[in-house]
This record gives sequence, structure tokens and C-alpha cells, in this order.
Amino acid sequence: MTKRRLKLGANLNGVGNSISFWRHPDIPINASVNLDFYKKQARKAEEGKFDLLFIADGLFINEKSNPHFLNRFEPLTLLSVLAGATSNIGLVATLSTSYSEPFTVARQFASLDQISGGRSGWNVVTSPLEGSALNFGKGEHPNHALRYEIAEEHLNVVKGLWDSWEDDAFVGDKENGVFFDPSKLHTLNHKGNHFSVQGPLNVARSKQGYPVIFQAGSSESGKDLAAKSADAVYTGHETFEEAREFYRDVKARAVAYGRQAEDILIFPGIGPIVGRTAEEAEQKYQEIAGLVSIDHALNYLGRYFDHYDFSKFPLDEPFPEIGDVGSNSFRSTTDKIKQQAREEGLTLRQVALRASTPRTSFIGTPDQIADQIQEWFEGEAADGFNIRTVVPNGLADFVDLVVPVLQERGLFRTEYEHETLRENLGLEIPRNRYTLERVN
Ligand SMILES: Cc1cc2nc3c(=O)[nH]c(=O)nc-3n(C[C@H](O)[C@H](O)[C@H](O)COP(=O)(O)O)c2cc1C
Repeated sequence: MTKRRLKLGANLNGVGNSISFWRHPDIPINASVNLDFYKKQARKAEEGKFDLLFIADGLFINEKSNPHFLNRFEPLTLLSVLAGATSNIGLVATLSTSYSEPFTVARQFASLDQISGGRSGWNVVTSPLEGSALNFGKGEHPNHALRYEIAEEHLNVVKGLWDSWEDDAFVGDKENGVFFDPSKLHTLNHKGNHFSVQGPLNVARSKQGYPVIFQAGSSESGKDLAAKSADAVYTGHETFEEAREFYRDVKARAVAYGRQAEDILIFPGIGPIVGRTAEEAEQKYQEIAGLVSIDHALNYLGRYFDHYDFSKFPLDEPFPEIGDVGSNSFRSTTDKIKQQAREEGLTLRQVALRASTPRTSFIGTPDQIADQIQEWFEGEAADGFNIRTVVPNGLADFVDLVVPVLQERGLFRTEYEHETLRENLGLEIPRNRYTLERVN
């Protein structure tokens, strides 16, 4: 058995996922649409031998949305440029199955996969925000269960289209005038409940077969979709115990679907705050937390609950009883917020401030952060981590200070082992389904 190796992703997000990050003097005001800023981050992550860059996305904004969401690059467009600015790192783009056509999605990701020499990945999401329907001429945002039903069919169609061409289909025989072998071209002819797609796709497979499938969404339906069809899961956990339970659960589901536990990798997102001393790290956190006003924090909290207006409740009384609000949106997140508020007896003010500037447990010296990463990795709570930038220079600090410690401990690579994302992640290159049928 090969040794398990830690994986690292860099979640690039311009002016940041927090509402007030942009106010810090060191953050360029246009970071979310500043190509040089992204290129610099991408190259820094590659210098740190990260497995992948990860770009989140959304399809609906209003005046209460986070600054980064208001004006940012579309992920596939951005990654097509970053493919040319880097040479080894994986490129994972978020794209919603609720508001896209499988043919277009298959084509775009297959193109990025070819452009990057087999380094692309798709983060499959179902879109939490109700307002997204308004931007796509849909009467209603599909409910949670329906979104996941659509996602499953969508993903199957996309994977089917990616197998349209067997790997040796394009013979290119100039002498005899044979461009391709028709017996190695396959038409999907899919007719399902939500999609009708004939195929074939007009792009061939890449060096890694097809893009790595990430899935983000941690509800029961989300975990099930991941267990059936994803190569990796992007998730969020505050404690080791919670992360380990999630890890065990998803792996067990994958095994129940006839897969190996190591066929699916679990990547919790973390926002490490590194200081040369513990005090310096704490100071960096306080600097960021101090930029948030309570109005902004309430807005931020409301976004998870489908832009619910929390400002109508008293700030210093227990978190209000709001029934089912949020259950058709970021369900796993809103359930967790409500549960923590109840269990810890938090006030609305405390919940809002905690949500807007979470105080990560991954804070401290490089050794302290490496200790925690090692504990989560060896304790089977994570196969890798998606590193979010939550303080200015957060990614560079991690690369310069924490990565060397992880490397010294033999947990993380010192050089890329392979050319493709799939292989660097230790995942098998999927054979073309028709080639497999032929040889079996
Ligand atoms: C860690 C994590 C990251 C996510 N990132 C995105 C994202 O970038 N864009 C998006 O539309 N949805 C994102 N989602 C939302 C889910 O994909 C999904 O659309 C919705 O929240 C329902 O998922 P659930 O299974 O957690 O309830 C994310 C969810 C989680 C848990």
C-alpha cells in the first residue's frame, strides 16, 4: 500500500470571504477582479507545491452580499488564464448543476483539462441561494431534494459525455485520409427526468481521463452524492471530532456504493492564521475582527439564511427562534449555527460576530498549526485541507512558514510527483467506459 500523503488546496478569493477583509490597508480594493493579484497567489501556492487552486462561486447577489461576491471573476474563465500562468498546480472551478446544461459544462471543463494538460477539476454545487432562479428565467429555485436529484443526473450525463471519444480515437492517418476511427466515437443518447442529451461531445479526454470531481455540500443528500460520484469533498468543520465523524461517514457511504475508502478524499476548509509567535498570530486575528461592524455581521449571518433580516431582533438576547428559515439554502451550515446557538446559549450578537469572523483553532506558530494539521490528517479527520486566506498575506505565510514544517515531518511533498491533478492527488485515471467494455 502506498503511504498516505497530505493534500493541500488554496482557496483564492480576492477581497476575501469575510465582509470586512477588504478594509485592511494591505488588501487591494479590486483584488477580486485583479488578474495580477490572482496570478501572484497562484504562483505562491505552486511554490508551496499545493495540489490545487480552488475557486468558489455564486449566481445571485444583492446589496447585502459580501464584497467579494459583488464583483468577481467567473471561475472557468479565471482558471483558463491561471492555467497559462502555472505549470503543475490543479485548477478547480465551482459550477452549479441547478443552473447549467451538462453539454456546456462537459465541454468547458474538458477544454480546461486540455488547456492545462490534465489539471482541471469541477466543484459540483447545487446553488444555495433562492434568488439564483431570477437570473435564469426559472419560476422557482428547485428545493433541496430536487436540486440533488438534478445534480446526480447532471453529473452522470457530464461523465458520459466525457467518454465520447476513446483515447486512441483520433488516428490522424494523413496518407489514407482517416482523421478518426468511427468505432471509437460514442453517442450517449441520454434521456432522463431532467436532461435530454444526445452527444457526442466535441472534445476528447485529457491526460487525466477527465476532470477531478469535487463536491461541496455536507447535508445527507450532499454526502450521498459525493459518496456515489465524487473524487473529493470540500467541507467545513470547527472541531476535530466533527471532522472525523464526517470523514468516517462519507468514506463508509462510498464503501457501501462499492468504492474503496481511498477513492474519495476529504478536504475541510480552514483559514490558518500564522504568526512567528502565538501573540503575533492573535494580534493578526484581532486586527481583522476589529474591522467588522455589528450591522455588517448581521448581514453576513443573514446571507446563510437566504438573506434573512436579523436586524429586527434584540442583539443581546438569545438567538431568535426562526423556525425553518434557511433549510432550503445553506442547510448544513444553518443547522449548525442554530444548534450551536442553542447548545451554548449564545446571543444574536455573539452568533453574528462569530459567523462573520470565525476564530479559527488553526491559529498560532508554524509548529502549532502543523501539529493540528498532522493531528487531523493522521487521526483520519482529513485527507487534505483547502486553505482560505483570512488575514492579509495568509497564503504566503502558510507557504513560507508552515509548508516547510510539514515537509520536514515527511507529511507533504517537496516536489510534484506527476503532471496531472488526478495523479498528484493519488487518484486513479478512469478508463474510458467503452474501452473497458471492449477489453472485458
Ligand atoms: C464547504 C462548502 C462550500 C460550498 N461552496 C459553494 C460555492 O462555492 N458555491 C455554491 O453555489 N455553493 C457552495 N456550497 C453550497 C452547496 O454546494 C449547496 O449548493 C447548498 O449549500 C446545499 O448544500 P448542503 O448539502 O450543505 O445543504 C458550499 C457548501 C459547503 C458545505
